[in-house]
Amino acid sequence: MSRKLLLIIIITIIVNIFPSNVLAAQDQDIEDNACYTCHKALGWKFGELATNWERSVHAKNGVTCSKCHGGDPNIPLGNVNDLSTTEFREITLSSMYYQENFVGAPKKEKVQELCKLCHSEQYKMYVDSPMGALFLANKGGPSCVYCHGAHENHIPNTKICEDCHNDVQGFNKLNPHSASFEDIPKDFPTKIKGMHSETKYGGDISKLGKYLYAYWLGSVAFITLFVIYALTFFVLKKGGY
Ligand code: HEC
Ligand code: HEC
Ligand code: HEC
Ligand code: HEC
Ligand code: HEC
Repeated sequence: MSRKLLLIIIITIIVNIFPSNVLAAQDQDIEDNACYTCHKALGWKFGELATNWERSVHAKNGVTCSKCHGGDPNIPLGNVNDLSTTEFREITLSSMYYQENFVGAPKKEKVQELCKLCHSEQYKMYVDSPMGALFLANKGGPSCVYCHGAHENHIPNTKICEDCHNDVQGFNKLNPHSASFEDIPKDFPTKIKGMHSETKYGGDISKLGKYLYAYWLGSVAFITLFVIYALTFFVLKKGGY
């Protein structure tokens, strides 16, 4: 066999083994990640967000739980279901709450600051846009996470704009981060109506109507029943029962 042929064979073998090793190493990383493993094992909304994250672009690019939340992902965990209550509590505390850099679940403008660490371009565009400014002023603009999700991290389509805009014709031609009418041609098909809200992420408050109605109905029913009970109680008491 010539030396050249041998070299080619060796290189081919190395090239073929390399990617599978890298993939195996990545899986290993995920399994070793105490944050992911424990939350996944907890099930319920925690299990769900761990699964969502697992499938995300972030997971594939090594943006792990602790990159966003802080804490210590390298704490030895073992099999979560075999831990005693005390062991579980101790590990929970030492991987999360005892760590100075643990930030928990970020809220409001803290979320934007977090995304900004790695997506400063979108952040800069967005804070200067009319919608971004409304978000920060708590007046109904969406946050990064409203459109992209925190863990599953998808790219939304214009369906999401319908949450707050009645008519989204032509919206697919807008840059969602800098979206402003100043950049839009005069003959744009849609007018944007004013909307303000104090809902969790911001949204169209008119959609809250039916919930508010149910709330008032519930309150009136409760008070009426209370008055009836009180009257019955006093009538019975007076009657000497
Ligand atoms: C041994 C299990 C376990 C490990 C390991 C663990 N967590 Fe948790 N985590 C929990 C439980 C249980 C809760 C529910 C709240 C509580 O008990 O404090 C929680 C809550 C949270 C919350 C929500 C807190 C809030 O402010 O609402 C975040 C964020 C979080 N964990 C991130 C992490 C990150 C990041 C890591 C790794 C550095 C991690 N967790 C490691 C069990 C765990
Ligand atoms: C790209 C950043 C990012 C990554 C990576 C990330 N999170 Fe989060 N997480 C967030 C943000 C932002 C919020 C708060 C958003 C919200 O309120 O919906 C959040 C909220 C949470 C909460 C609170 C949820 C609730 O409903 O109370 C928990 C628990 C949590 N994350 C755990 C994790 C775990 C476990 C991982 C890894 C498997 C992870 N996160 C990965 C950004 C991230
Ligand atoms: C530690 C760095 C880091 C943080 C923090 C972070 N990201 Fe990312 N993000 C990445 C990397 C790396 C990628 C993949 C490469 C790329 O597209 O730039 C990515 C990709 C994305 C994508 C593209 C998804 C796709 O399908 O193409 C979106 C959307 C995104 N991130 C949103 C967010 C949001 C929202 C936050 C805040 C909650 C956030 N990111 C926080 C590093 C980060
Ligand atoms: C109103 C919804 C909306 C909001 C709010 C929003 N985005 Fe986006 N984002 C989108 C859409 C839609 C795309 C796809 C854009 C495209 O295909 O041109 C996108 C794309 C991205 C991408 C992929 C790269 C790119 O530019 O195409 C990243 C990263 C990203 N957004 C991060 C962020 C961050 C960080 C924030 C908050 C500062 C944010 N987004 C706020 C809707 C939104
Ligand atoms: C959570 C609610 C919400 C979502 C989701 C949302 N918007 Fe908005 N948007 C607003 C509010 C509130 C305003 C301000 C309306 C006003 O001027 O009174 C606004 C204004 C705008 C404006 C006008 C900016 C200007 O120059 O005045 C554009 C363009 C826009 N949005 C595009 C989009 C696009 C594109 C999407 C989807 C990718 C989207 N919006 C999703 C709430 C939202």
